[in-house]
Amino acid sequence: MRRPIIAGNWKLYKTVRETVQFIEQLKPLVQESKHCDIAIAPPFTALARAASAAAGSNIWIAGQDLFWEKEGAFTGEVSAPMLADAGCQCCIIGHSERRQYFSETNDMVKRKTQAALAAGLMPIVCVGETLAEREAGDTNRVIRIQFEESLNDLTVQDFFRIVIAYEPVWAIGTGRTATPEMAVEVHKQIRQLAQQRFGAEASRELRILYGGSVKPDNIKGLMAQVDIDGALVGGASLKPDSFASIVNF
Ligand code: PGA
Repeated sequence: MRRPIIAGNWKLYKTVRETVQFIEQLKPLVQESKHCDIAIAPPFTALARAASAAAGSNIWIAGQDLFWEKEGAFTGEVSAPMLADAGCQCCIIGHSERRQYFSETNDMVKRKTQAALAAGLMPIVCVGETLAEREAGDTNRVIRIQFEESLNDLTVQDFFRIVIAYEPVWAIGTGRTATPEMAVEVHKQIRQLAQQRFGAEASRELRILYGGSVKPDNIKGLMAQVDIDGALVGGASLKPDSFASIVNF
């Protein structure tokens, strides 16, 4: 059985103080939640304090991005070993906002994924089509290319350590969720791609999260689908109550 993951992506929100306060409020709300893994991704500035606040709890701390080099003259970047050092267990990679606003390519996603793995972090690799791509009937091709170009070079062993998040770009922050059926169709395709490249066991074990306007009132329907193994939650992860009710779907 695949263990679900509910992860909160805070994007460009929350100060250090707000982060610590959130974690203190979240802890009692999820301390009995043994049915899934729980992660939150605060901004870089709050990671170390978030990790201290979450220490000893069932809440993992995730980076929202990283750079593939360990260190060097790369002004403004943060590396995978630095995230691990700050207390992160995982890192979101290739989020569509990174692709859209910061020109991230599949090749960069590949390098970042490999760097995360080398530092012992669990990468949450995001894939997803834009509205124009969906309307042009291009969804499956886009997903296949994202998968192949960013993940095909991993070893089978490493593939076991990654999580994939399917996030249709048109559903992010728009209040327009993919129906569970739409999500499942793509999740099935991703599992098939995983099977072709990495084998049946790796494909069976792969956790595929859905992301895009996940809310307390639609999480149940999504999680009822066998092929949906959790959620990557943006807006609804910013309040402890709403995030906790998604965790406790
Ligand atoms: P949203 O964001 O839940 O606000 O749509 C999801 C994400 O970007 O990961």
